[in-house]
Amino acid sequence: MNHIALPGDAEPGLVRFPADPRDRLRAWDASDEYLLRHLDEAEVPLDRSVVVLGDRWGALTASLAAHTAQAPTQITDSHLAQRATELNLSRLGHPAGAARLLSSRDEPPQRVDVLLVRVPKSLALLEDQLLRLAPAVHAGTVVVGTGMVTEIHTSTLQLFERILGPTRTSLARRKARLIFCTPDPEVLAAAPANPWPRRYPLPADAPLLAGRTVTNHAGIFSAERLDIGTRFLLEHLPETKGPARVLDLGCGNGVLGLATALANPQAELTFVDESFGAVASAEATFAQNTDGRKAEFRVGDGAGGLEPGSFDLVLNNPPFHSYQASTDATAHRMFGGALRALRPGGELWVVGNRHLGYHVQLRRIFGNCRTVVGNPKFVVLRAVRRG
Ligand SMILES: C[S@@+](CC[C@H](N)C(=O)[O-])C[C@H]1O[C@@H](n2cnc3c(N)ncnc32)[C@H](O)[C@@H]1O
Repeated sequence: MNHIALPGDAEPGLVRFPADPRDRLRAWDASDEYLLRHLDEAEVPLDRSVVVLGDRWGALTASLAAHTAQAPTQITDSHLAQRATELNLSRLGHPAGAARLLSSRDEPPQRVDVLLVRVPKSLALLEDQLLRLAPAVHAGTVVVGTGMVTEIHTSTLQLFERILGPTRTSLARRKARLIFCTPDPEVLAAAPANPWPRRYPLPADAPLLAGRTVTNHAGIFSAERLDIGTRFLLEHLPETKGPARVLDLGCGNGVLGLATALANPQAELTFVDESFGAVASAEATFAQNTDGRKAEFRVGDGAGGLEPGSFDLVLNNPPFHSYQASTDATAHRMFGGALRALRPGGELWVVGNRHLGYHVQLRRIFGNCRTVVGNPKFVVLRAVRRG
């Protein structure tokens, strides 16, 4: 037996990052517990190279860190998941270095003996990550996936089958299920080419961006086509003049920042997203469409870590689905961060679904908010940092 302590028994308890006092959700779920129990019951040997893919708040990685011979490797696309993992490792008393934290864009390990997969929301991200890891998987690799019943579809299992080998599922336990996959050398050798990153041309009538091509790494927002909310903001982008400093906050593939850069050759752009894939996409998109122009690309949490009072304009299409925090909480933190990042007189422009009521939060945070334009579905809002 590995005698792995379940996250629910850990003292002090594991936490999400960022912590939100209004949201006391646990940092693990039944699918994490099912997987950890299975590793114990099936006596899966943990004395070799263990890789954890898609761990949400680090509950799997932190629970395993005391039981693996080598530090387990975690691979995630999320900066927030990495921060949560560091926090939870330290809460469980592990030193820095007790786990190796890699991003979805880092070079994957060369050999994987145990592959544990917390099924991500995005099938594309799973496809990309399994394809990147396939060369490191061998016939003896133990592959176990986990997820809530509602997150595991036929298409999920087909991906494991197509990339690694024969796959079956366990019985459901507390609405969670395990996925057992037996790597087959013939399937591994015939692994399809990785279709990610994907590129698509922007529509001919896309304001400022007609005919431009965007690069999209797997799992990012609007990886297949331009989002209609983004498009609405593109149609009403504010004009900037001279060397204005502009922040594309939650940049995704970076189309908002790119349009601003193309409209004003002197604008200095900063792109931030919590997704490693998004920042890599924005960087590739920008490089492809500007002639060696410089810009800053950062993986981070909102506007945290940016120089206060240094931006003239912040553009933001806040996330509306997130497992890290309630959507409201993320938008709220992004708006607060934007206020700090703006210089007095600087403006935050936000596009959002009308029903989300962002104007209420903006008014509370900035003390002002004006609707620039609206249609039946979206509004573009503007808030100004007062002196
Ligand atoms: C609705 S998408 C908008 C993407 C892009 N600006 C566009 O309009 O196509 C929201 C983006 O915010 C990012 N995001 C979510 N939480 C974040 C956080 N805490 N800090 C920075 N970016 C975050 C998501 O990864 C996603 O790319």
